[in-house]
Amino acid sequence: MIPMANYIISGSPKNFGGSVNISGSKNSALPIMTAALLSADCSRIHNLPRLSDTMVMCDIISSLGCAVQREPDGSVVISADISRPKRSCGYEMFSKLRASVLIMAPLLARFGKAKIPLPGGCKIGARPIDLHLKGFTAMGAKIRQGHGFIEASAPSGLTGCRIYLDFPSVGATENLMTAACLADGATTILNAANEPEICDLADFLNGMGAKVSGAGTDTVTITGTPRLHGCEHTIIPDRIEAGTFLVFAAGLGTELIVRNAEPKHLKPLLAKLGEMGFDCEAGSDFIDLHPSGRPKAVDIKTMPYPGFPTDLQAQAMALLTTGDGSGMVVETIFENRFTHIPELCRMGAQIKTEGNAAFIKGVRHLSGAEVRATDLRAGAALVAAALKAGGKSVIHNIEHIERGYESFTDKLRNLGADIRRED
Ligand code: EPZ
Repeated sequence: MIPMANYIISGSPKNFGGSVNISGSKNSALPIMTAALLSADCSRIHNLPRLSDTMVMCDIISSLGCAVQREPDGSVVISADISRPKRSCGYEMFSKLRASVLIMAPLLARFGKAKIPLPGGCKIGARPIDLHLKGFTAMGAKIRQGHGFIEASAPSGLTGCRIYLDFPSVGATENLMTAACLADGATTILNAANEPEICDLADFLNGMGAKVSGAGTDTVTITGTPRLHGCEHTIIPDRIEAGTFLVFAAGLGTELIVRNAEPKHLKPLLAKLGEMGFDCEAGSDFIDLHPSGRPKAVDIKTMPYPGFPTDLQAQAMALLTTGDGSGMVVETIFENRFTHIPELCRMGAQIKTEGNAAFIKGVRHLSGAEVRATDLRAGAALVAAALKAGGKSVIHNIEHIERGYESFTDKLRNLGADIRRED
């Protein structure tokens, strides 16, 4: 049983602010780590965040018989110099990390077979992989399901084709784009996801000698090549971590500079913060949020990139809880991504929901309380609320938060937050 840990946070820190360095993107690191298995050569990945999610992915890659090494300079070297994978990843490991579905691409494309435990749902929704499997089938793979496992096989290799994604799924775009690199002929993915993490993965694949074009648009074209070589790559900054810290400071009305960030990946959040009355100055690799008063209430609707990201929905809602007026938040990406709402209400927030819409009536102050993190971003929302609440809060199950935020308490303490971790 993983020991449960808590954060103890005393709200309204006196001098919160300064600057914070943003880590590499979790959601870019995970697909790039699996893509490295497309080649027997070594690939070196810089700026890979130290998170429980990336550590689980290292364990999964190692369990297949590949070498994974964190170097003294912080980079990670992955070498898949194997003739075939040792075994499929076990349910236990797989259930810890949904993104391990991405391991299917290199196993299927390079070794002709991928067998993984059928991913279960999670707190934010059923999270099916039908679009992934539909794409693999279109590329000539045979899919079998049984005993809680999914097996995709293509012993004579994959064949390029045109695939239309019913929904611009990030994971499906990544899985299919990666597999298509070793397919025979060209693959076109239509209605592909546009997220910055897709572009970073495409850059990594092209660094390996693949031929991927159109990443960042809704049509990605991949021309298959017989083999790929290793490469060296630096992961892009984590736009969700950057946005989360901006929300922390906005809630406290203090100045904050987020460094090593990519402002163009944060346009939807910066636009919303602007509507709320926050002045953000964007530089080449930093964002400077200027001090301000109470946020104006706004409406937010999550959409695929470049719309407002679902991964910042909970944090933005926490900001609206003390807004001046009433706001509405509509979650269109996941069917159950409001689990933070009852916890925010325990702190005095006034939020009602109707289906995938939440109505937030701004209050002057929140009060510290004992609350529980239900998923990564919901937990971050509770931290945002606890930082500005009066009194002490205890946040349980914070292992969810530490899946996606590197050196989280150190970064917050360096900014002046009164937070400590308790096992
Ligand atoms: C990625 O998840 C991210 N995770 C998520 O971040 C993020 O919220 C999500 O994209 C949307 O931006 C990683 O990159 C590791 P999807 P993914 O496939 O790929 C449905 C975080 O907090 N769908 O774009 O799983 C699905 O059920 C995490 O860092 C199908 O129906 O997201 C969902 O409703 C949470 N069939 C919607 O599409 C499929 O085959 C979006 O899912 C695939 C997805």
